[in-house]
Amino acid sequence: MCGIVGGVGPSIQAAEVFDGLKRLEYRGYDSAGMALVGAEGVEVIRAATGRHSLDELKGRLSRLAPGANLVVGHTRWATHGAPTLGNAHPHTDCTGRVVLVHNGIVDNFRELRGEVLALGHELKSETDSEVIAHLIEDGLAAGMEPAEAVASVFSRLLGHMALVVAFAQLPLTIFGIRRTSPLLVAAGDGRSFFASDAPAVLDVATSFYEMPEDRVIAIGEPAKGAAGTSVLVPLAIDWASQDVELVGYQSFYEMELAQEGEAFSDTVSSLIDEDGGAVVDELKVDPYELKRLRKVTVVGCGTSYHAGLVGRFLIEHFAKIPVEVDVASEYRYRDPILDDDHLVVGVSQSGESLDTITAVKGAAAAGAKTLAVTNVIGSQLSRLADAVLYTRAGPEVSVASTKTHVSQVGALALFAIYLGELKGHMYPEEAREARSSLRDVASAIEAALARQAGYEESLAPFVGSDRFFFIGRNLQYPVALEGALKLKELSYLAAEAYPAGELKHGPIAMLDSEAVVVALVPRDRLREKVLANIEEVRARGARVIVVAFDGDPEAATLAETALFVPEVRPIWSPLVTVIPLQVMAGAIARSRGLNLDRPRNLAKTVTVE
Ligand code: F6R
Repeated sequence: MCGIVGGVGPSIQAAEVFDGLKRLEYRGYDSAGMALVGAEGVEVIRAATGRHSLDELKGRLSRLAPGANLVVGHTRWATHGAPTLGNAHPHTDCTGRVVLVHNGIVDNFRELRGEVLALGHELKSETDSEVIAHLIEDGLAAGMEPAEAVASVFSRLLGHMALVVAFAQLPLTIFGIRRTSPLLVAAGDGRSFFASDAPAVLDVATSFYEMPEDRVIAIGEPAKGAAGTSVLVPLAIDWASQDVELVGYQSFYEMELAQEGEAFSDTVSSLIDEDGGAVVDELKVDPYELKRLRKVTVVGCGTSYHAGLVGRFLIEHFAKIPVEVDVASEYRYRDPILDDDHLVVGVSQSGESLDTITAVKGAAAAGAKTLAVTNVIGSQLSRLADAVLYTRAGPEVSVASTKTHVSQVGALALFAIYLGELKGHMYPEEAREARSSLRDVASAIEAALARQAGYEESLAPFVGSDRFFFIGRNLQYPVALEGALKLKELSYLAAEAYPAGELKHGPIAMLDSEAVVVALVPRDRLREKVLANIEEVRARGARVIVVAFDGDPEAATLAETALFVPEVRPIWSPLVTVIPLQVMAGAIARSRGLNLDRPRNLAKTVTVE
């Protein structure tokens, strides 16, 4: 999704804003641009060469005069209008003295576009964003102050978005405003910044602030009619600039995969106190409210949804509360029956996925309690929920999630144990023991990761295949879904996931000797059933890979290849069986010469519907 960086203050360098955009690359983009604003006017450079756009901009940075005081930058993920040079941001008004960058969608864009065209404005792009610049121009022409014009136009825009605007007439001030879409303020060394995400400004800022919604904030020199930074709430960002540097690996995907044990361990340790008891990071409701819960719904998208599916088993197992899990984009348009003994859990790495935020917001409005499981302190999901569990995975740059997935499962497991204890289904000693055994899974994750080269060697005969099926039952079905998603995302191959028992109800018709079936068969109560399902697959001539616990030769005899993982308690098995599948997706994508960090068409943080 679009990324925004804007900086103002003594000697802001275009290169600093450019570096910020580079650090937002993971959000996904197809064109980019920057503007330098001075009293004499606005200079804009843009590039629309897909994922090479930033490289192209870099070559032209010197065209922006050094020693400026105000620079705004943008990476665009096309929504309205193709990813062309003309549609790339920043956009300007007819005078060329109002410049803006925008993230999100203006829902009433057609009507507003018609209006500005009727008023005689000349539109240079097909975007919804440019229309905003012309409406602001009209506000100025009607005698409004810049901040007033921004506020007045913003109040007419329907939808979720973030906007950063600068004016040649005020070259020491930038204005920002947002509704649902992410935008934060950061400051350091006497300079101030707007950014879509903290990693963009980690090396230039030392303090970070939340932005309120629907309110114009001015950074830099104070401006008439706008709120200054004094009204902002500080954010405790504990990430460091080096956390987003690629060191020692070819890709962030591989680096973050290798960090998985540490991410899981840091998450779980932070949610267990010194006495082995539970920690809830932010609990804005009385624990009594959680004790009386009678139903839990977990919502999320993609990989986070899959963590939620694992969470269902864990919560039902430990807390004995019925759980349903839904894809956030579906849930938000249902008419769920909710009341105050119902908890809706939003799982989101970024805490900014619009679908998840709106699903949780809707549940809160209907009277449910809400919990956020997120990796980003101060993200919108964390702010709106009644309680928060943070995953401590550090920044995740690769579009495809790895380390945050196991961290989410770890956090949900601890929440399940917490609820189990709170509701009296577990004695404190039992809960402590369960937490301690979960903490020990970190070493099994590390041990599985240490086998990466072995997994890749075993998978070599399969890298040319183009049809994969992932099967598992019970706790392993979400793992199968995650394995298929990783492979689809990174390799663009057809990969399907099914509950192993469901195959014979239809999908088995697709199997032949070209198909590869990856069967998840850890030693659990359904192992024999899955072994029988593997026999069904073999009988149709498909090639089989099994993921099994160490010391399970029987599973291995049924497969062309076995990927063994260290044995853990069956209830924790999704935390280790997912690892060979993450390795597999990376290995196949690499063998196909694909970019592991920025798969085509994808954005890391999906802030549009
Ligand atoms: C998969 C992936 C996406 C995200 C999804 C939700 O590897 O990265 O499917 O999991 O877009 O994002 P968050 O967790 O930020 O809400």
